[in-house]
Amino acid sequence: MSTKTTKQQGTGRLAGRVAWISGATSGIGEAAAELFAREGAKVALVGRRVELGRKIADRINRKTPGAAVALACDVSQEADVERSIAATAKKFGRLDILVNNAGLVEVRDLHEYTAAQWDRVMDVNVKSMFFAFKHAFPLLRAARRGYVVNVGSISSFVGQARTPVYTTSKHAILGLTRSIALDYAAHGIRCNCVCPGITDTPMLWEHLNVRPDPQAALDERLQRVPMGVRLTPLDVAKSILYFSCEDSAGVTGTSLTIDCGYLTAAEWQCTGPTLFQENA
Ligand SMILES: NC(=O)c1ccc[n+]([C@@H]2O[C@H](COP(=O)([O-])OP(=O)(O)OC[C@H]3O[C@@H](n4cnc5c(N)ncnc54)[C@H](O)[C@@H]3O)[C@@H](O)[C@H]2O)c1
Repeated sequence: MSTKTTKQQGTGRLAGRVAWISGATSGIGEAAAELFAREGAKVALVGRRVELGRKIADRINRKTPGAAVALACDVSQEADVERSIAATAKKFGRLDILVNNAGLVEVRDLHEYTAAQWDRVMDVNVKSMFFAFKHAFPLLRAARRGYVVNVGSISSFVGQARTPVYTTSKHAILGLTRSIALDYAAHGIRCNCVCPGITDTPMLWEHLNVRPDPQAALDERLQRVPMGVRLTPLDVAKSILYFSCEDSAGVTGTSLTIDCGYLTAAEWQCTGPTLFQENA
């Protein structure tokens, strides 16, 4: 499937590739940046907390010299996104992979939202993907094979309590994913969506910490999960990797749910122990 211009050098699934990963200063984005570098990619860690990004980039560069750079960017600001994409191409000479991972959750009932709060969640979670695609498109097209991975959620398919705007934004991401897949296939670009369930990241605890007993709230939620465990950020990063390379050749406009079975059953009581819990 490769052409002369996409011929890879070195080893690893992503050898010779360059990736822009948003929200790479923690959780799933951080794990994806580390995994991508191990697979041979050069990675731009994009986020607002650039000092944190630099520490992670330094850690990656100690293992794989020159593989990572940290770039300051608020993904809801078009000028920031444009600048960070241009800086990625300037630093590494090309761009092949766009991982739209940055996200924000607000836990409150819909009637309590202000218009500005609604806009903030939609801007960070969805409009950012439009900005990133718009400014990455010429580079992805020039690479002759482009990979866009949008991070959705199980909230792309079902509602979850007291997160109406997050749920709306994550549903919208599926529509955007399909539209990009359709309109840009002719340019060699594939676009897919990874939809995680309960993943052990700072965002999960933001969600849980509004409950009187966060650990008990997590245990209660895990009883509805057939495997009985939460995902690690690396579990999700592996699915992002799948869509970012030729392992997923021929796959576009689709989503991959990675949720330890959460959405499989309408009702479920995990009585445990499961073998997955033993390994957790
Ligand atoms: N943790 C879960 O259980 C879970 C489940 C489903 C989907 N997700 C999705 O996974 C993605 C990553 O989240 P995570 O779980 O790793 O949580 P996280 O809080 O560790 O990561 C979110 C990242 O996005 C960044 N971010 C937020 N607003 C930003 C902005 N305006 N500009 C730039 N960066 C910004 C944060 O700084 C952070 O690094 C999100 O899109 C989230 O919705 C997470």
